This record gives sequence, C-alpha cells and structure tokens, in this order.
Amino acid sequence: MHACILSTLCIAFALCLAPPPAGGNEIITSALSPDGRTAIRLVVRSGRAYYSVTRDDRILLDDSLLGLLFQEREPLNRGFTVLRVTERQIDETWEPVWGTDASVQNRCHEVTLTLVKGSGLTMDVILRAYDDGVAFRYSIPDQDGFRSFELISEETEFCLTGDHTTWWIPADFDSYEHLYRETRLAEVEAVATPVTMRTEEDIYLSIHEANLTDYAGMTLRKTPVGSTLVCDLVPWPDGIKVRGDAPLVTPWRTIQIADTPGGLVESHIMENLNDPCAIKDCSWIQPMKYVGIWWGMHIGKDTWHQGERHGATSVNTRAMIDFAAEHGIGGVLVEGWNTGWERWGSADAFDYTTPYPDFDLESLAAYATEKGVSLIGHHETGGDIPTYEERVDEAFALYERLGIRAVKTGYAGGIFPRGHYHHGQWMVRHYRSIVEKAAEHRIMLDVHEPIKPTGLSRTWPNMMTREGVRGMEYNAWSDGNPPEHTTILPFTRMLAGPLDYTPGVFDITFDQYKPNNRVHTTLAKQLALYVVLESPLQMAADLIENYEDHPAFAFIRRVPCDWDESRVLDAAIGDHVTIIRRRGREWFLGSITDEDPRTFEFALDFLEDGVTYVATVYSDGSDAHWSTNPQSHEIQTVEVDAVTTLKVHLAAGGGQVVCFVPVSP
Ligand code: NOJ
Ligand code: CA
Repeated sequence: MHACILSTLCIAFALCLAPPPAGGNEIITSALSPDGRTAIRLVVRSGRAYYSVTRDDRILLDDSLLGLLFQEREPLNRGFTVLRVTERQIDETWEPVWGTDASVQNRCHEVTLTLVKGSGLTMDVILRAYDDGVAFRYSIPDQDGFRSFELISEETEFCLTGDHTTWWIPADFDSYEHLYRETRLAEVEAVATPVTMRTEEDIYLSIHEANLTDYAGMTLRKTPVGSTLVCDLVPWPDGIKVRGDAPLVTPWRTIQIADTPGGLVESHIMENLNDPCAIKDCSWIQPMKYVGIWWGMHIGKDTWHQGERHGATSVNTRAMIDFAAEHGIGGVLVEGWNTGWERWGSADAFDYTTPYPDFDLESLAAYATEKGVSLIGHHETGGDIPTYEERVDEAFALYERLGIRAVKTGYAGGIFPRGHYHHGQWMVRHYRSIVEKAAEHRIMLDVHEPIKPTGLSRTWPNMMTREGVRGMEYNAWSDGNPPEHTTILPFTRMLAGPLDYTPGVFDITFDQYKPNNRVHTTLAKQLALYVVLESPLQMAADLIENYEDHPAFAFIRRVPCDWDESRVLDAAIGDHVTIIRRRGREWFLGSITDEDPRTFEFALDFLEDGVTYVATVYSDGSDAHWSTNPQSHEIQTVEVDAVTTLKVHLAAGGGQVVCFVPVSP
C-alpha cells in the first residue's frame, strides 16, 4: 500500500570533531536522544572501552565492557585509545510497505568512536540515542592485520543496575518456542532476546538486536553474581562464533526504553536501525488474511502425508478457495501438498515440486487466481538445508509461474548438517538468502522455526511474518498456552517484529478430535488477538466449517492486517493489554486479559471530534470463562463518539474487540 521510499531525509550529515581532550587516561563521549532524556556514554579507561546508559539522569546500565576476541588476531577488548570521534543527527520520515503505522519517524543522535590499538589496528564503535532507546554496534574496516577473521567471543556486557522484574525465555540455540517466565533478574540464567524488564522505578527496558546480517544470533548469559548479562553468540559446530572477511559490521545491540509497557510496543527502533527498502517495485507485496489446510493436521483430523485422511486434496483445497473468495480472505495455505511427508525427519525427505497424486497443483492454482485468491505455498525443509538450497530455485520458479504469491517455509527438526543450530551464523545466512531469492520471484514469506526478527522487513518487506514463538499449534498437541501467554508476547517477542501466531480458533475445545487438548481462551479473546498480535499475513486458523454461519466470523472478515496508526491504551505485562489501531477512518480496539476477569473504562477520545461512529462490540458473555464456558459471547451495535466512555468487561481468559465505523458526517 505505501510507497517504499524515504519521504524526507532532513538532516543526515557527518561532522568530524577534533579528538576529545583526554582526562588522564579517561575519555568520555556520548550520544544524547533528541528529547534530551536518554544518553549512551562511552568511556575508555585503562585501555578498555565501556558504555553506560542513562534516562533522566538515572543510570540504567552501568559501565559495561565492549570488545571482540578473534582466533589468532589481536584481542579487540583492551589496549585502546580514541583516535577520532564523529557525529551526526538523523531525522527522516519513511513509509513502510506495511506495518502498524503509515509513516515512521527515524530521529536520533549518532556518535562514532574510532578506537585504535598500539599496533595501529582500528575498530569503530557506533552509538545511537533515540527517544525510545539506545543502540550500538562494532565496525572493523578491512586493514592490515584484519582481512579474514574468526570471532571466538563477543564480550559485550549489559550491566543492569537492579534486580529487575524480567520476562524471558531460555536461550535455546534452536527454538524460541517457550513459555515466558516472570522472575527477578537474579533468577535468570541464559536468555534469548528480546528480554524485557521493569525497574523498581517503573522504567521498562528490553534488550535485543537489530539488523542481524551474516553474524550469529545473540543470547545472553547472566553472571553468577550481580545483575550483568553477557553476550553469548550461537556457535558453529567447531565453536567459532562468526567467520568471514573484513569489513566486519556487527548487528546493533539495542536497549529499548519506555515509561510504560505500551511505549515499548509503539517504538520503531528495530526498523529504524535497518537499511531502507531494497526492493524497487513493492506493488506485489500485499498483506492478507489466509485460511488453510493446517489446523486439521494439528488436531489429528487430517494428515500431511497421503492416505485416507490426507488433508491437501484437490477437493478440500477447492472448498477452501471457495470459502476464501466468498469471505474476502486473500490466501489459502496448503500444507502436505508435496511428496515426502512420510520421510519427515530424515535427510532428503521433501520434494518441492512434485504434488501428491490427489492434489492437482496446476489447476488449483488457476482456480484460485480465477477466484481472486492466492494459494500460499509450503516448503517444510525439516531442517535439511543442503537439499532445500539445491531445490529452492526450481521450487520458487514453479510457484511464480503459477501465480502463487506467498510461501510458508518451515525448519521443524534439527539442522542438517548436524552440529549447526537454527540461530547460528550459517543459518542466519541461509534464512537471508531465501528472503532475497523469494524477492527475485516476487514471493512473500512466512517463516516457521525462523531466526528472530531484527527489523529487516524494512529492507526486505517481502519478509512478512514469522513464527519464532510458542504459537497456537501448541494448544493442539501439548498442555497448550496458558491465558497469560498472549498478554506477554506484545512486550517481548513482538518487540522484534510481527508474529504468525495463527489466531481465530472458534471450536475452543475441539472435543470431537482431541478431548484432552484445548485452547485456553474465550472465543471473544480469539477475535481480540487479531488486533493485539498484528501480522501482515494473518491466519484464520480454524477449520472452515467452524466459521460457516458463525456470526463472530464477520469480525475476522472485517479486521485489517495492515494499519495506519497503532497505540497501546493500557497494559500490564502478563496481566492485560488493550491496543487501538486505525485503518483509514475506521478504528479497531482489541483488549485481552490473563486468567483474571477485568473491567476497564476507556475514553474514546481517539475518535474524530464531532463524528458519530457505529461501534460493533464483540465481547465475552456475562457467564463466559475460558475454562468452563469459553464460547459464550455477545455481539452488540451501539452509536458512540469521541466523548463516549467505553466500558470493557473481560471474562477470565477473555477478550473484547470493537470495530468503530464512522457514519456521519
Ligand atoms: C511446524 C510449524 O510451526 C507448523 O505451522 C507446521 O504445520 C508444521 N511445522 C509442519 O510444517
Ligand atoms: Ca513451530
């Protein structure tokens, strides 16, 4: 929808400063946020470089060591002096191709310090201070003594200044599919990012990384004593963390900072730390909702492989295309269409171009196009990277020829060759090469078992959405996701980027298929997830027969998955969250709670003054409860305006959505 261009690039100049005066052997310089509240400061003391972060003069990160250690190269964590300092102000506004806001401001102060060793070897540390957080990265130019390299340790520390309340998942080098824990920082051992904290003074911060390019994913390890987290990169099989040829430019290490949990969500720091769009014509990149031959396999109704209960048959797919066309749903995902599912888990299992005999790919793709719907292709690699890389060109070319505009990829299982992790440098390279290849074929991507998002969708907006979360599927075959799970995700995993959570299950208990598994929400909360867990490819996950003639499906039909404006009205991480989003002149409000029922009153002052709106309210019934009565819901229509106060009641494990459509003037 939006043009992929920089609309204004106001000030972006580089200013060379004279070397700062040395105070003894201590040299200090800092970047200050445009609003003057947040600073990142660098100190070189006794040859070591440390950064610290303040907000309103409170120290959020105390002097934290910087440095990189290489195999058979000079250590770049000591023996430094400051050679040069340069700075610039960045102030630009850009328009994302899709996202939560139609336009994004990128405003920060950047300071680059060139550190030099006695041997003459140099390394830059680049600091940025935004109103909503700080970031820094290392950059080592190609120079004598630094041509090729093998990084054995990134020494970056995050010296926090209190035993903060922390929301975290463990550092697992292969998966982010874990339940979040809320503990004191002292109880954290090793964590994945984003990791989010609240200080005693109610400042919210979240540590992550931006622009993860040709480098290993970062996890953090807590030191046994104190409140320090230390970078622990995901290794190659031989223990090396990152290898390559100079120059080496690391991802940004980011610390988002906000006065409220909602402030974290509204931040665009991730995208702002990535390069502008690399795709010239983005007209083919179009957010859409989708249904699919998917949930049936997870609840055991259908199978991926050929047989009596094969899900991906031509008959089933046609019915789904018809359903999508009738209800204005853009895509139909079909899993289990290609041969190889009998061998899932072994090497060389999947063929990416040969359909099972009961799935007529060519005619189904043509039928979908005729109906104004796109099939969404599926490439489950089972982690077998060499085979996928060998076959992917042909597979994407086939999809492009058939007019298939989006592909879901999957990496379920250990990586082949064994010894590699999903989140190591080798896989980071793989994931990126697939994004770039997909762009060549005008294909949008939804990646499961992905590398975490780091804002790269600004540069490659065909990288639409991804899993990297304990999503809906866990409700089908495990203890499931407790009611509080989705009240944590917006403030943790989603700070990194959109989420393919796959909401919208109406048959909450699916007793007919799996009486011992269920979804842990009310039906109204399933609707609210469309507003809270935004995604430019957004699934309506249930079996289509559960949507037929269901009055609540009208909401899924209506809700956009690309927004002009988004704001968090109120939130407490792990308890509840209410988000409003605007598309054109229509507003949508989504509110969800954990296992506790709650009542709120919201001023509707975000609506246009003097305009009457019809508000369609989808709420929990008065007797609803996620455990005992999840289906109970009500749909009401009322007239409201900007001076109305909206009362929202959420059942235990419940939710509510409201769709505001202007009617006059
Ligand atoms: C795991 C994915 O998360 C899920 O969505 C998919 O159905 C299976 N792998 C099979 O590819
Ligand atoms: Ca998964």
